[in-house]
Amino acid sequence: MTHTHINNSSYTFKHTNLLGIEQLSQHDIVFLLDQSEHMLTAFRSKTPLHNLKDAVVINLFFENSTRTLNSFDIAAKKLGAEVINTAIAHSSIKKGETLLDTAATLNAMRPDIVVIRHSFAGATALLSAKISCPVINAGDGAHEHPTQALLDALTIKLSKGSITGLKVAICGDILHSRVAYSNILLLKQMQADVHVVAPPTLMPHYIETLGITAHTHMSKGIKDCDIIMMLRLQTERMNGIYVPSPKEFYRFYGLDVEKLQNAKPDALIMHPGPTNRGVEIDGSIIENSRSLIERQVESGVAVRMAVMHNLYNAMQKAG
Ligand code: NCD
Repeated sequence: MTHTHINNSSYTFKHTNLLGIEQLSQHDIVFLLDQSEHMLTAFRSKTPLHNLKDAVVINLFFENSTRTLNSFDIAAKKLGAEVINTAIAHSSIKKGETLLDTAATLNAMRPDIVVIRHSFAGATALLSAKISCPVINAGDGAHEHPTQALLDALTIKLSKGSITGLKVAICGDILHSRVAYSNILLLKQMQADVHVVAPPTLMPHYIETLGITAHTHMSKGIKDCDIIMMLRLQTERMNGIYVPSPKEFYRFYGLDVEKLQNAKPDALIMHPGPTNRGVEIDGSIIENSRSLIERQVESGVAVRMAVMHNLYNAMQKAG
């Protein structure tokens, strides 16, 4: 079964928020990836677009971010929007009540799209209930990071032609990673063969209920796979010691040239960034011609353009 295009012309994208991959059907994903491809072509050729002309996009980031914040900023500007970037110190807002006050204040400014990153799982959903315009989750704690999973899917699709049937191994800190969770949901929807690799301390106990295969040995987990997705240790979310040392973690779970031999000869390597050389990945792998890391960043802008354009449209239609 291939899902490159939607044949059903009666399909319409109806979502007015993007809080997680959980809410998306396979049709939604295929549609957004098709739209992202068009956006990528426009982005590469510097074609001016006006889909969000006169719209105001607020990027509300309660957590540190370089690439995601810049990516949303550029994507909104490429569509002709006015953008306000608000980075709020991690410590300044800690209680649900205060968060809701922030939402009400923001809402009164009548933005057209609000993009939120927060260290608490569920914070974006909570805020979206008080905000009348589309809300995009740019990462909520260890929960979801939907635009990251979509940009990863676009990168895979452009490199391999299709996602369906590919063997994908997601390796590293599965327990604390929102990138892992959103990618698992999306890759399952697209019928990929999903494997995860982590030390037992960083493997969620419920993982196999997601219909994927869990491994504690890296060489077995990445055996014959088409795509290896490496993840950073999310130390900011760890309370206590999960790995004996970064050096030991690297020895058993870091992707180096030797471990890479277990994958298919044409396997491609991905990482959402930021990378930690010598912890989860060897520096030479980042620079390897089989690394898709820079393409992921480029796909990110296109995916965020497509997501913002379609949420905005759906909201206009919903009146
Ligand atoms: C990821 C995130 O913030 O969840 N990074 C990103 O969005 N580019 C992964 C990470 O921080 O390790």
